[in-house]
Amino acid sequence: MHKKLLIPGPTEVSKEILNEQTRYLIGHREKSFSDLYGGLTDKISKFFQLTDDYKPTVTTASGTLWFDIIGRSIVKEKALACVNGAFSKRCAQTLLSCGKETDILEVEMGKSIKPEMVAEKLATGKYDTLTVCHNETSTGVRSPVAQIGKLVREEYPDIIFAVDAVSSMAGDKTLPSEMNCDIIFGSTQKCFALPPGLAVALVSNRAIERAKNVPNRGAYTDLVDIFEFEKKHQTPFTPNISLLYALDKRMDLLLEETYDNVYKRHLDMANFTQKWANKHFSMFPEAGYESITVSCINNTICKDVKELNQRLAERGYMISGGYGKLADKTFRIGHMGEWTLAGIKDLTLAIDEIWGLQ
Ligand SMILES: Cc1ncc(COP(=O)(O)O)c(C=O)c1O
Repeated sequence: MHKKLLIPGPTEVSKEILNEQTRYLIGHREKSFSDLYGGLTDKISKFFQLTDDYKPTVTTASGTLWFDIIGRSIVKEKALACVNGAFSKRCAQTLLSCGKETDILEVEMGKSIKPEMVAEKLATGKYDTLTVCHNETSTGVRSPVAQIGKLVREEYPDIIFAVDAVSSMAGDKTLPSEMNCDIIFGSTQKCFALPPGLAVALVSNRAIERAKNVPNRGAYTDLVDIFEFEKKHQTPFTPNISLLYALDKRMDLLLEETYDNVYKRHLDMANFTQKWANKHFSMFPEAGYESITVSCINNTICKDVKELNQRLAERGYMISGGYGKLADKTFRIGHMGEWTLAGIKDLTLAIDEIWGLQ
């Protein structure tokens, strides 16, 4: 039996989207490709309400590629990487492994990054790049990126602010103009509800200009090259054309639903899940900073989540255990992409029945 995915990525993908990938291939230097890709990036610009200050791109690689792009094409002298979970830690480690000096501002798992913490570090004047994870999927914590971005914009205009929105873009609010960021990226297997393999990124002209002055940008990680090809509605290397067809369809559906309604649908699912979790368990993230695309719930009744998943599988569902050290202490429900409140209600009802929750 097919298990519907309520894990925080990959998420459930509809047949309608899956079928888009069965189209015949086209050459990526043909006009037909530029028509497809140019049309797709126009739809992305429209959905994320891009001003002339930003450009969209779609890379054939999952979101992690953007850690490398930031490391290779953006950091000049020194970065400040904010860490509050497994993925933000991976970002920090990637910058270091790209050979870039990086200071780490780390808070305990479950906590968010706060503007005042960032302000204190930036006041040292040592940094040209700042990275923050908007939605820490490992802990279900949402950091106040818009406020952090406001601080950077107003006081440190030379800093390039890059935001990992891998598990929140196209679900939560991620308009670059509202986030006051230079780079924001998301992976297709999360809120875009596509198979894995692409990342959507929105990049400021300032970031592209910065990249021109950063040496040793590599090939796949050369931001300047990426946007040179964008001018021709092409990508520097052979892209995953089948997935681009699927993303083009997804953007049609997102535009039809509208940005505001997509956000509201995710918020409704999050509010319902949090209420349910607080009735029977408790939420892992500090109050007020809960993700709206993935709920990380304390397993306060110490039940076996693996066994729960086996029982849920019989009903055609799959949720996720806790991440890494949080494996037995928490469990996670991904409510992103195509999911609706009705689906989340069915899932929680199934958990109520299996665990005998009243
Ligand atoms: C917040 C966050 N950042 C980065 C990543 C890595 O993204 P990908 O697996 O698409 O490379 C993930 C994956 O789950 C994530 O949740």
